[in-house]
Amino acid sequence: MKVLVIGGGGREHAIIWSLKQSPEVTEIVAAPGNGGIAALARCSPVDTNNLHQMVNLAAIERPDLTVVGPEVPLALGLVDELQKRKLRVFGPTRDAAQLESSKAFAKAFMQRHQIPTAEHALCTTLDDVRTQLARFTVPVVVKASGLAAGKGVVICNTHLEAERTAAEMFSGVLLGTAETEVVLEEFLTGEEVSFFALCDGRRAIPIAAAQDHKRVGEGDAGPNTGGMGAYSTDGLLTPAMRQWITHNIAQKTVEGMASERTPFKGILFIGLMMTPRGPMVLEFNTRWGDPETEAIVLRLETPILDLFNATIDQTADSLVVRLKPGASATVIAASGGYPGKYASGKLITGLEPNEAQNEADKEDVVIFHAGTALKDGNLVTAGGRVLAVSAAADDLRTALDRIYTRMATISFEGMHYRRDIGWRALK
Ligand code: AMP
Ligand code: GLY
Repeated sequence: MKVLVIGGGGREHAIIWSLKQSPEVTEIVAAPGNGGIAALARCSPVDTNNLHQMVNLAAIERPDLTVVGPEVPLALGLVDELQKRKLRVFGPTRDAAQLESSKAFAKAFMQRHQIPTAEHALCTTLDDVRTQLARFTVPVVVKASGLAAGKGVVICNTHLEAERTAAEMFSGVLLGTAETEVVLEEFLTGEEVSFFALCDGRRAIPIAAAQDHKRVGEGDAGPNTGGMGAYSTDGLLTPAMRQWITHNIAQKTVEGMASERTPFKGILFIGLMMTPRGPMVLEFNTRWGDPETEAIVLRLETPILDLFNATIDQTADSLVVRLKPGASATVIAASGGYPGKYASGKLITGLEPNEAQNEADKEDVVIFHAGTALKDGNLVTAGGRVLAVSAAADDLRTALDRIYTRMATISFEGMHYRRDIGWRALK
């Protein structure tokens, strides 16, 4: 069968690497792919912000299955368009993807269905913000409602700062585009956990829990990034907690979406804060996480293709998701300057362009590419997050030791990475 994978980051490399392990998959087209994916798939250049380009490609390729990686194509309605053309596609429709693409929708949805989340107020004007702020103590969280690539959340220490932040969101100064809706939110404390559940419109099946490291610097210092590393272990959640979250958050979300006639099919990635009051939802994402996926696929024993098929065919009920016991992790090597301005085109040394082509034993280090490109046969940097060096092992310490040993042999000008991924679990 032929599979089209939309996207070109470390997450998509990990999905493709995983798909390759199913013998039924005979051909993969990646759009746009990257320098590492090129060793596993045919790369076809598309702009993932351009719905027409993606639909046209699918219409030409006629894949047996399309997997949509990033959030923007989901929010643009790529799944709806492919379904209209009778193509099999993994991911939520545009309406269902609102759980991620509109924080205003997600917050109101959680309120309607009694899903635990922070208190909030939805504001459409600055006057609204001023009035509603009186209900909140500081710190208070100010969120842009729409997709903001991780830049739409600001924790404010005074009401004045919150007002100023909201004003900058409405005017477009902060994010480049003017927001029409801003959400004020109660500040929660606790440890953050990412919870991944496969949803077929009726059932939510837990896959794995992971922990991301969003700040650029060690000890969680410095500005937010797309994620500098992640790990997944069974110890992140007790079996009882995992069951509680599955039942009271994931399954409730699936049932709520079905009852509102926007059934959710795809991966529900629940960003949780483990507060003293219990787990509360910080945000929903309607896709796999990046870099969490690079760690999770190394633990996944059930073929990822089975996950996709069970979702589309609504047979998640009879799906058994097996995870390798132990731990897995991924550490991001980033370009100098990231998450701010960075240069591209830097020569990467220390790895073969097609290293991840090997159907590596899952114990080995696997290097997933994020922002890389092939230039005159050489591998060069082509993004902020460049490589996701990943491994699974019996325990987290061993997985991380393997990763950092391998990382030390890789270099490109300006390369930086965090040396403390997994610190919460190891302390
Ligand atoms: P989000 O994009 O909504 O996940 O927010 C990005 C990050 O902001 C989260 O990973 C949290 O670290 C932080 N955050 C978001 N909402 C809250 C909240 N209500 N209280 C405390 N921190 C939050
Ligand atoms: N790692 C966070 C995300 O994928 O949004």
